[in-house]
Amino acid sequence: MLTRIVKVDAQEPDLRLLAEPAEALRRGELVAFPTETVYGLGGAALNAATVARIFAVKDRPADNPLIIHLSEPSLAIDLTTGISEFEVALMARFMPGPFTLVLPRHERVPDIVSAGQDTVAIRCPENPVAQALMRLTGIPLAAPSANRSGRPSPTVARDVAEDLDGKIPYIVDGGACQIGIESTVVIARDDYPIILRPGLVTREMLADFTAEYFGVERAEQNRECAEASQREQSRSQAPPLSPGQKYRHYAPRARLEIFTGDDSGARAKDLRARLERYLSVESPQEGVERLVGLFISSATLEAFKGGLSGPTALSAELRPEVIVYAAEPDPSAAAHELFAALRSFDRVGAAVIFAEGLSAGSGGEAYMNRLRRAAGGGAEEDE
Ligand code: TXA
Ligand code: MG
Repeated sequence: MLTRIVKVDAQEPDLRLLAEPAEALRRGELVAFPTETVYGLGGAALNAATVARIFAVKDRPADNPLIIHLSEPSLAIDLTTGISEFEVALMARFMPGPFTLVLPRHERVPDIVSAGQDTVAIRCPENPVAQALMRLTGIPLAAPSANRSGRPSPTVARDVAEDLDGKIPYIVDGGACQIGIESTVVIARDDYPIILRPGLVTREMLADFTAEYFGVERAEQNRECAEASQREQSRSQAPPLSPGQKYRHYAPRARLEIFTGDDSGARAKDLRARLERYLSVESPQEGVERLVGLFISSATLEAFKGGLSGPTALSAELRPEVIVYAAEPDPSAAAHELFAALRSFDRVGAAVIFAEGLSAGSGGEAYMNRLRRAAGGGAEEDE
């Protein structure tokens, strides 16, 4: 199949250019398109054959449900059997945006979308290209991230093509995604937002909103109840609340190590120790340079260089491929560059990647979640 790339303006996409991809979506074909989080692989959500094709093209495990994308939250009414007042308020506050809400599923939504669960995940992207395409198409779109299962999510059209070229008829190219990691997935059945996948709608934003909505005391009671019922659910035989979290994800081909510390100096020191260990333990063939990927802020890179006095084994034996994600160590800035960086390290053939760990600050939880899982960690390490 020939994959056509339809390039549009990121802010004011020309609707004439989007007419063909919209028509293809209505016919049940698949179209990759940008959202503010990552690129999605869209298809008609209420068409079971189309949804099956999404799973096949991605090589996605059948028990990992898809998110349904809508141009506005009010359209969710047709897809669920009921939305609580608090859920309506959450939707009004965080949609459109990088936020997904899991609701009770209406039977109109095919089983395959939700991997057989009795819930359905709803998201309204804010990205102007996604909005224009959804409005033109006029139907709910199931859209997982547009990568092959297990690979880093694509944040530019080229990365979509790397995984899906020849498998889908259209990729809508609307430039780089503004956020760079996927939406926050939340379930709020017990009047408290439980995070199933952290994102840039942060735990703090959700807690503040809930405290404002119910008052501090009742919000706290709700949290205790909701957390208890979530623990109950994970102990029981019921399917996991967030099936996506159990798979290896975002994985570059290279091994990934996270260097950590409270400030740039401490992280630079940890990086040095890890590089030295790597050089002493893993001996390459004679004469083969070791290509090491480094994902770092310039502040921490400066601290790292400052700590190297004179020529050392580090500078002599390493050929580092350095990607500086920002001047300062900030988790949202790092999150914005992470997936694209993992793919570039793979393209140059890095043997191992060292990435800067940053848990403090807005977006720290979401960034560390992706980083740990790219390093091969499971969901249990996410907390
Ligand atoms: O930002 C995003 O959410 C992107 C863009 C394209 O919208 N989409 C995305 O989709 O990340 P995907 O399929 O790669 O991840 C969907 C996540 C998975 O972790 C999945 O398990 C969870 O949402 N999910 C979907 N439906 C669910 C449901 N009914 N209950 C619990 N979790 C659900
Ligand atoms: Mg995904």
